[in-house]
Amino acid sequence: MKIEYFHGSVYGNGAMIAEEFKKQMNEKGITVNIHNIKNVKPKEIPNADLYLFGSPGRFGKPARNMQNFLKKANLVQGSKYAVIVTELNPSPDSSSIRIPTEENAGMCQQVIPLINKTLNERGLVKMAEGKVFVTGIRGPLEDGWQKIVEEFASRIPIQNT
Ligand SMILES: Cc1cc2nc3c(=O)[nH]c(=O)nc-3n(C[C@H](O)[C@H](O)[C@H](O)COP(=O)(O)O)c2cc1C
Repeated sequence: MKIEYFHGSVYGNGAMIAEEFKKQMNEKGITVNIHNIKNVKPKEIPNADLYLFGSPGRFGKPARNMQNFLKKANLVQGSKYAVIVTELNPSPDSSSIRIPTEENAGMCQQVIPLINKTLNERGLVKMAEGKVFVTGIRGPLEDGWQKIVEEFASRIPIQNT
């Protein structure tokens, strides 16, 4: 089984999740190729048994470059996908951190729903979704994030090909 993992990490948190996911999947004999979408042309993406999309939250939505990537990407109808996002922890501890210009954006998060909407409209089939919180606007990831990645990975059906 081959997974192509596309993320839009800016501050490195989503990139760490991708590496952890890859490490865990490699232990199960699954190939994971990681790409930052800033280095990928959406029309030139390789075939995969499953596509994984990882996006940071921006003003309650997926990062704009991820939204554009998902709309343009060369994805065959019926392809399987999973999505994992990083969002600012909405706990009282982090609520004092202001998101520039739209300070309440974190209160109405549509990051995962908007990714699903775009991909479902394109005929892709969701296998799993997950969310890992960051504790500050640029990270770090919340404690125990590796376990969250593990739980997410365990929800992806393994194909023996
Ligand atoms: C301009 C800006 C807007 C942001 N807006 C949101 C938001 O609406 N919701 C949220 O949960 N996090 C928001 N964040 C925090 C991001 O979730 C965080 O930077 C990201 O998860 C880090 O991932 P990365 O290290 O992979 O880039 C924002 C961050 C920036 C810089």
